[in-house]
Amino acid sequence: MNQKPKETGLAGVCEVITASMGLHFPVDRWNMLTRNLTMAAAEFGFQHFDEFTHWLLSSDLEKEQIKILASYLTISETYFWREEPVFSALTNYILPELIALKKNGEKSIRIWSAGCSTGEEAYSLAIALHRTIPDIKDWQIMILGTDMNPKALIKAESGIYSRWSFRNCPVWLKANYFHHLGNGNYEVLPKIKNMVTFSNLNLTDNSFPSLTNNIYAMDIIFCRNVLMYFTDEWISKISQNLFHSLNPDGWFVVSSCELNSQRFSQFRAVNFPGAVLYQKSDKKFKSFKVVPAFGYNHDLPLPGPVVRPETSETKYPVFIPEILPEPVQVSSILWATENDLTVKPEPEVVSVTEPIEAISLKIRFLANKGDLSEALLLCNEGIESDKLAIGLYFLRSSILQELGQTSEAVASVKQAIYLDPDFIMGHFVLGNISLQEGKLRQAKKYLTNVLDLLSSCADDEILPESEGLSAKYMLEIILPNMQKLTLL
Ligand SMILES: C[S@@+](CC[C@H](N)C(=O)[O-])C[C@H]1O[C@@H](n2cnc3c(N)ncnc32)[C@H](O)[C@@H]1O
Repeated sequence: MNQKPKETGLAGVCEVITASMGLHFPVDRWNMLTRNLTMAAAEFGFQHFDEFTHWLLSSDLEKEQIKILASYLTISETYFWREEPVFSALTNYILPELIALKKNGEKSIRIWSAGCSTGEEAYSLAIALHRTIPDIKDWQIMILGTDMNPKALIKAESGIYSRWSFRNCPVWLKANYFHHLGNGNYEVLPKIKNMVTFSNLNLTDNSFPSLTNNIYAMDIIFCRNVLMYFTDEWISKISQNLFHSLNPDGWFVVSSCELNSQRFSQFRAVNFPGAVLYQKSDKKFKSFKVVPAFGYNHDLPLPGPVVRPETSETKYPVFIPEILPEPVQVSSILWATENDLTVKPEPEVVSVTEPIEAISLKIRFLANKGDLSEALLLCNEGIESDKLAIGLYFLRSSILQELGQTSEAVASVKQAIYLDPDFIMGHFVLGNISLQEGKLRQAKKYLTNVLDLLSSCADDEILPESEGLSAKYMLEIILPNMQKLTLL
């Protein structure tokens, strides 16, 4: 139940929000909070912001009202196969181990995507299982996606996504597991859709583990990019409940930016190539050997022994069905010259009112909602205030591509490359666009640039603006496709 807020005004409203849904709004996010509350006020039937906040401060919100409010205050940003190294750890190590442990007993696997937003994470998990378990029909698979935002869940249940949800995901994923509906929309195939169920759950409800909502004895829990918006107090309570919802030896996965050895001290951190996952266990994971920390997150203080998978081969062979690569959407790389740029960025930083990360989050939020024009406007404003923000040029190019404005998208990527000629994702995207346009010679140039730049990266180096793609993985995407198209 909500406690009566001690504060008044926006500070008081923040207390109400924290008490009812865990979310923490520091003062530097109050502009955004005010904007979102103003939109929510209209749905609650209030014309004036002050009347709405007064009402929020003076009433005990009901569950349905919290859900509505949540749909305005939460960030629903998500996409398929987010943070590739996590999915590699899953398909190469964790699932094979789990399958081997369970194959002679009850063949069941239970996975929970807590804070699943519009469902891309839950379906990615289903795809990972489908690729890893050869006799999947003999298994009882439960993949549960839960979220507090009812609008996000409606989209999740539809299983229909625009190209935006496939940004940064491997090319085979859309080709093998989705059906093109036209108009740039793709529907997840029934064999994957049937593996996933969705339900509404507020993580602050203290309603798990519980048999009544089927949240107990999970083998794996993904709770990524959710707790980062919560207060420390809620993170501690919820992570305790998540811990108790796992089977012994079960896995708990947060995003790489949420890793924190103190917050999640009840778990053991296990280091995989490019990713750290938490395990509920005191024992050593049998197929891994203890080695010093390596790779990703060197600075991360890891509790207890750091273990890493054996580098040679996993104990159990991984079944990966043949993948159907999409025609490599790589295009020509013209090294960007000053003349290529329609607008030359000024080499000077104008004062920024909000950090670029916050602006970029908002832009993604808008794009995620399908509000591409608004996203583009905000992106342009962001670039205006920080003309060196490579990420924003890159993000703008994705939005422009989505809007079908390819030449503008190309110009935006070239601006990013102008700022950093070694910007690998920029060359990659230009290569992709050239391929889509059938300009093979140009595609070859851009992709060759990518190969050259990758040759000076460590295998597990995460490429900037790639949302977790490692250099090695990028190579695996590009090489076969370049060979196929005789671009090498
Ligand atoms: C940024 S999305 C993360 C989606 C996905 N896990 C990923 O990493 O791609 C965060 C989601 O957490 C949900 N969320 C926030 N607070 C919540 C709460 N108290 N209970 C349940 N879900 C919550 C939001 O509705 C939103 O859909």
